[in-house]
Amino acid sequence: MDNSPTVHIPVLGTEVLDFLAIRPGQTVLDGTLGGGGHTRLFAEHIEPGGRIIAVDRDPAAVKAAETSLAGLPIHVACSTYSELPEVLDAIAVQWADAVLLDLGLSSDQLTDSERGFSYDADGALDMRYDPSQGEPAWRLLGRLSAEHLATIIFEYGEERFSRRIAREIVARRRQDPIRTARDLAQLVRRCVPRSKHHRIDPATRTFQALRIAVNRELDELKTGLDRIPDRLSPGGRIAVISFHSLEDRIVKNAFRSDDRLSIITRKTIRPSDEEVARNRRSRSARMRVAERV
Ligand SMILES: C[S@@+](CC[C@H](N)C(=O)[O-])C[C@H]1O[C@@H](n2cnc3c(N)ncnc32)[C@H](O)[C@@H]1O
Repeated sequence: MDNSPTVHIPVLGTEVLDFLAIRPGQTVLDGTLGGGGHTRLFAEHIEPGGRIIAVDRDPAAVKAAETSLAGLPIHVACSTYSELPEVLDAIAVQWADAVLLDLGLSSDQLTDSERGFSYDADGALDMRYDPSQGEPAWRLLGRLSAEHLATIIFEYGEERFSRRIAREIVARRRQDPIRTARDLAQLVRRCVPRSKHHRIDPATRTFQALRIAVNRELDELKTGLDRIPDRLSPGGRIAVISFHSLEDRIVKNAFRSDDRLSIITRKTIRPSDEEVARNRRSRSARMRVAERV
């Protein structure tokens, strides 16, 4: 990511502030700092006396935020949100009044052709939020069996043509390994018939699946939801914004089965038509909120 300003527009901004009941004096945790959009909104409402602790696992996002958010009452760290308790311990903070997890990737990451998240980029198909951890996507595509790839694409992408795509990846890599996002998108488009009803790119589900696998996103979410409520003050709230049904199901079940929490949103909170018109990325967002009892 270069040093240009963020292009990410925060989703459900007003709803996040209302449902988390953000007020002056509070300690707020932003577990997915990204372009700092939500954090900037929090900063407008917590003073005097409040503070924000914000983490992102992408070092480039953290570096950009350190510059763009300078002067605000905010502590920024490069960490996963599942490790927020350790971040709090390191700065001797016991409790938070509000926590936000805005899942997935930011528009800054999507539009950076070197990261491999967008279909037509010809940089390496990496897809790691933190490029110093784990394996890039291109290496997984070169190493895993067809069965394993099909399982990932089916389970994390809910893709009906997962076996066909996996077979094609394995056949192709014998001659010429897949290196770029564009290579993969073209291969998937040849395997998946374009739907007459939906305008989404046929590669969308496979890209989602690989990104989830590369970053172990669902394990991270389960661990985060297990650990973070212990650091919420009584009456403190947690909001999670998810962008697909796999994430939302995990959030729903975690909130329901957690004795420490009472659910605030019986149904998910969705963006208004006006917000979707303004920011197309918000169209699949849904938010759930719970409160520490
Ligand atoms: C949708 S963006 C957040 C955007 C932000 N709320 C804003 O308004 O600018 C999601 C961010 O979460 C980060 N991320 C994804 N998984 C993470 C994790 N397990 N821990 C910390 N950050 C994570 C990504 O690197 C990305 O920057």
